Amino acid sequence: MQVPVKKNEEYIVDIIDNGFEGEGIAKIDNFTIFVQGAIKGEKIKILILKVLVSHAYAKIVEIIEKSPYRVEADCSTYKRCGGCNLRHIDYEETLNIKQNIVQNLVNKTLENSKEIKVNKTLGMGNPYNYRNKAQYPIGLNRKKEPVIGVFAERTHEVIQMKNCLIQDTTAEKIAFLVYKFIKENAISVYDEETKKGLFRHIVIKVGIRTHEIMCIFVINGKKIPKENELVEMLVKTYNVKTIIKNINTKNTNVILSHDNIVIHGDGCIYDILGDYTFKISPLSFYQINPVQAEALYNIALEMAELKKDDTLFDLYCGIGTIGIFASKYVKKVYGIEIVEQAIRDAEENAKMNEINNIEFLSGDTPKVLSKLLEEKQVYPDVVVVDPPRKGIDEDTISSILAVKPRKVIYISCNPATMVRDIKLLQESYNIKQIQPVDMFPFTSHIECITVLHLK
Ligand SMILES: C[S@@+](CC[C@H](N)C(=O)[O-])C[C@H]1O[C@@H](n2cnc3c(N)ncnc32)[C@H](O)[C@@H]1O
Repeated sequence: MQVPVKKNEEYIVDIIDNGFEGEGIAKIDNFTIFVQGAIKGEKIKILILKVLVSHAYAKIVEIIEKSPYRVEADCSTYKRCGGCNLRHIDYEETLNIKQNIVQNLVNKTLENSKEIKVNKTLGMGNPYNYRNKAQYPIGLNRKKEPVIGVFAERTHEVIQMKNCLIQDTTAEKIAFLVYKFIKENAISVYDEETKKGLFRHIVIKVGIRTHEIMCIFVINGKKIPKENELVEMLVKTYNVKTIIKNINTKNTNVILSHDNIVIHGDGCIYDILGDYTFKISPLSFYQINPVQAEALYNIALEMAELKKDDTLFDLYCGIGTIGIFASKYVKKVYGIEIVEQAIRDAEENAKMNEINNIEFLSGDTPKVLSKLLEEKQVYPDVVVVDPPRKGIDEDTISSILAVKPRKVIYISCNPATMVRDIKLLQESYNIKQIQPVDMFPFTSHIECITVLHLK
């Protein structure tokens, strides 16, 4: 196919859809052009930035016909930060865009797609300051001065940020207090070029209901100058419950290492979801939007239509939240999770909430699952899977297809891998509906629940 556009040339296009990252999609002679910041329905003058064999990237030069859903982005760092890439769109419309993205994927990939309805995305009443976990990188600007904030989109340049509209407001205040302390005491900051310098990240976790706060200093070394003074200040000013040093001396993009030293408190915080209290450790996964997590779990369990003598498997269970929510409706729950600390937290969570019909197993899902099925001969009536973005491996899918639970509830933060996996499960399962839940408002991330019914 001949490429109909040239780099650095301008064109006028109609935006016919929005893609995975919220970008506008236009076509010239059936050739796809991604236009950052454009909204479906707009007519735009674009400048072509990059041309590849199958598609091109462009930027907006002029909006000729504006979408009625276009709004003024209410964040000063919006254009450079990669976080909220839908901030220029009315919130209600972002929910429709997410629903359409999932429906398009379903139509493109799945069998009997006409019978599969993607419901309207469940939005938040107040889609602001919803995150309970903040990870602030600390780096050096061009003048080699320390900056704290967010990474600029697709780079590791730290841009100074203030008043992030999706983070917890106290978390931001704490991060800035630490930053001020670093500057006033001339404490070094990690330089990605030289790999030298101490402070790399400040990670803050907040129990939204308990107001407990955990602060993690990610450092390239072991000692923080004036450490006691820093700890005292955080405890006194913000009543921080626990403070941890995370020693990360590796040249890596992974923020937290496994090496934690607790320097204040007991190394954990607690939060409340539904009727239950959960323990949260530095390395365990906990949903970042607890308001929507509660809604997500309740919808998933309602769709699961559990029975009193069911055995439920909660695969990729984290600190046991879904299994604990489900425990009162079934006979027995088994949770499987690869992070050992998360399994220890899950066990404590079950105990703390006086739940006796749940067992947690640590390890890689396909291996632990086959052990449970083959050696222990325990079979599930219902399976809940909530994997990381890469989805489920084929061995786990084969095991599910072999034991044929009555229902599979697939919870996913990546609709592309979810649709890939449920296509394989369609061999034995029917899908009637998919429910997107807006776990990450104003970002292009989409969380979904799919219920699969045994044929
Ligand atoms: C999206 S989180 C879901 C956690 C939990 N269901 C919740 O709602 O909080 C995915 C979890 O899968 C775990 N995980 C990743 N790979 C795994 C594997 N191969 N086997 C078991 N667990 C895994 C992660 O550690 C993480 O806790």
